[in-house]
Amino acid sequence: MFDIDKDIKKARTLPSEFYTDAKIFAASGEKIFARSWQLVGHTDSVEQLHPKTILPGMLNEPALLVRTQEGIRCISNVCTHRAMLLVEEPCSGDLIRCRYHGRRFSLDGRMLSMPEFDGVENFPSENDDLPEFPFAEMGGFLFAAVSPSVKFWEMTDDIAWLFDRPTTEGLRLTATREYEVNAHWALYCENYLEGFHIPYVHQGLNSVVNYGSYTTDLYKYASIQTGLDDNGDVAARYLFIFPNLMFNFYPWGISVNIVRPVAVDRTIVEFQTFVRDETLLEKGAGADLHTVEMEDEAVVENVQKGVRSRFYDRGRYSPTREQGTHHFHRMIADAMN
Ligand code: FES
Ligand SMILES: [Fe+2]
Repeated sequence: MFDIDKDIKKARTLPSEFYTDAKIFAASGEKIFARSWQLVGHTDSVEQLHPKTILPGMLNEPALLVRTQEGIRCISNVCTHRAMLLVEEPCSGDLIRCRYHGRRFSLDGRMLSMPEFDGVENFPSENDDLPEFPFAEMGGFLFAAVSPSVKFWEMTDDIAWLFDRPTTEGLRLTATREYEVNAHWALYCENYLEGFHIPYVHQGLNSVVNYGSYTTDLYKYASIQTGLDDNGDVAARYLFIFPNLMFNFYPWGISVNIVRPVAVDRTIVEFQTFVRDETLLEKGAGADLHTVEMEDEAVVENVQKGVRSRFYDRGRYSPTREQGTHHFHRMIADAMN
């Protein structure tokens, strides 16, 4: 149904109905997001029992991060009796007890006991244990999936070098912030995926990133854009992991953006700031992220109005400046078909 030529010089962009049709939007929940890996936290900010919702607004899957001697795991946070949410606030404990009718589970999700169930046939069975999510850690960042189309290492083995020790050591989550954008989630992502617009849209950023040196490298399920400063040093690296995760590497640390679809024309973007060296915070490409965000949102919200036009359906790509956007559209088309 969606077809993006693999030759960028021949290809046309996604048809506008992808950004405007509520049925297609709903289908992307199962076809793209339920099969994706989602960021669910960071090792340093996870309590022993830590409830999380996997991709709120789209998947809304209640999960529970559990920290044990053997490490962190991610299990369902839904009681197997009658679906009460088990843990509502971060806490600690040796077992999990449902506060609805007292069913108890071990920290690895095994059902331990249930009051008033004598004589119940085929009970307990493995259906009474809490399912475990596919789960992975990279550089301290924690990822979980509902039914992933690929294994985590398969998705990230070609970009994992970005998360090696010196880069991810000593990161502290210092701030979180949410932006609400009146546009389709993919419009927000595809804007992020090209630096083409920087000289036009981001005057301030343009003065610290040398546009001529801006490069895009494509990976299996990711892309990395690199901007150099006038001395030829890396000013910023922008990593995108399909379908909705952005890791922005700056001299001071990492700014993480999670793009959360809410409706066909509404998106929440969660910013998480992980600082390693705060003396560098006000310098270079990672200095004024709020201004850059406002400039991007204004453009993306206008595009949402534009894709509704009867006169617009599909566009074309710049072969030198829009490889990331083309690659992103190809992955969307693959997942949706
Ligand atoms: S719903 Fe958990 S014990 Fe009944
Ligand atoms: Fe931008």
